[in-house]
Amino acid sequence: MKVSVLGYGTVGVGVCEMIEAAEGLELGKVLVRPGKADKPFKVCSIEEICADESVDAVVEVMGGVEPAYSYLSAALRAGKHAVTSNKALVAARGPELAKLAAEKGVGFLFSAACGGAVPFLHNLALAAESDRILALGGILNGTTNFMLDSMQRSGMDYGDALRQAQALGYAEADPTADVSGLDALRKIMLACAVAYDKLPCEGFSLEGIESVTAADVKHFQAKGLVLRLLVRGGESGDGRIYAFVQPYLLAASSPEASVLQNFNMAKYRGENAGDILLIGQGAGRYPTASAVVRDLSDIAHGRRTMMKASCERVAADNSVCSCRYYVRLPAACADALPLAEKELDGALLRGVTEPLAVTDMHARVKALRESGAAVFFAAMED
Ligand SMILES: NC(=O)c1ccc[n+]([C@@H]2O[C@H](COP(=O)([O-])OP(=O)(O)OC[C@H]3O[C@@H](n4cnc5c(N)ncnc54)[C@H](OP(=O)(O)O)[C@@H]3O)[C@@H](O)[C@H]2O)c1
Repeated sequence: MKVSVLGYGTVGVGVCEMIEAAEGLELGKVLVRPGKADKPFKVCSIEEICADESVDAVVEVMGGVEPAYSYLSAALRAGKHAVTSNKALVAARGPELAKLAAEKGVGFLFSAACGGAVPFLHNLALAAESDRILALGGILNGTTNFMLDSMQRSGMDYGDALRQAQALGYAEADPTADVSGLDALRKIMLACAVAYDKLPCEGFSLEGIESVTAADVKHFQAKGLVLRLLVRGGESGDGRIYAFVQPYLLAASSPEASVLQNFNMAKYRGENAGDILLIGQGAGRYPTASAVVRDLSDIAHGRRTMMKASCERVAADNSVCSCRYYVRLPAACADALPLAEKELDGALLRGVTEPLAVTDMHARVKALRESGAAVFFAAMED
């Protein structure tokens, strides 16, 4: 199978090297930006790649929604299989690409967009064909896991943990998408689409790790708890999709607490299979490229679909899930939340709420922050 690659950056270079080394795969032309075609294998025209009848598949590893969407659509229309590592693209335009691929009878796979090397969507797509998927979740952002692990095990404060993640190449110069939870949210959107044929596009509840302090971590540690940023997704009994990201406080013996450094852990629960946990590298040149090449191999073996052509966009409804929440807030704001336990820590109050719907808790904290209160919260894993 001859494969052209769109984008020659961190992942693109790895994909090209792996294609060249793989049996049964041949590297076609590689798309780079205008003026950057400094080698004969590089081209600057998507039309040239689409018109090349010897090319069977196109891998998109440029990032962003446009022009990635237009280029991949053009490749599908030209009858080429498509593989991408681009979660922003699939979250925004996945259903259109899946429909086009089905119309053309070609493959459209995107394992690398969710969990890097961890074969989450690959396994989930297979599992969803034969089992009812009851719940999805896990640690799907290595940057924040690395930071929380550093704060927990090395006692670093948030700023130092972020600087260390940036120095090691785990966090970008602008880390907002990671630390806000947006990156993890996009991944759970894709997992819901694969598991339930419904892509949640609005109604999310999103809390990242920006509010956690070294003092908070000391408090959790004294109670034997470990903080992790988790995603949760699923379908309620009446067909409503939930999808949210928030910090969780976990027992040190929980599987998530044992996920260290920048590793990811994807989890799904099948009605018959029970819990399946997958741990591995969620990012990086070769881990991500390995997932792209696995998708190419799947296509070569006849697999075509990860997201069905029938996949519809829906609003998430996170009122179907409830948690007790650990919270740290100014003592003066104590009445804003129904607290079952509380202790004073100087001018701060630390406590645990009664069970609250995820939507309710996120809305209450939003209102508190809008009034100027500094609040940290994390769900308690029951
Ligand atoms: N890096 C990871 O560990 C990782 C893990 C999982 C998923 N991903 C996803 O994989 C994708 C690529 O990530 P990356 O880290 O490889 O990014 P990157 O290092 O920035 O590489 C992207 C490459 O695509 C090129 N490019 C962008 N727009 C282009 C265009 N219109 N025409 C031709 N080339 C274009 C860029 O060129 P310029 O340099 O000239 O801009 C760059 O060489 C993203 O969607 C990302 O979310 C990455």
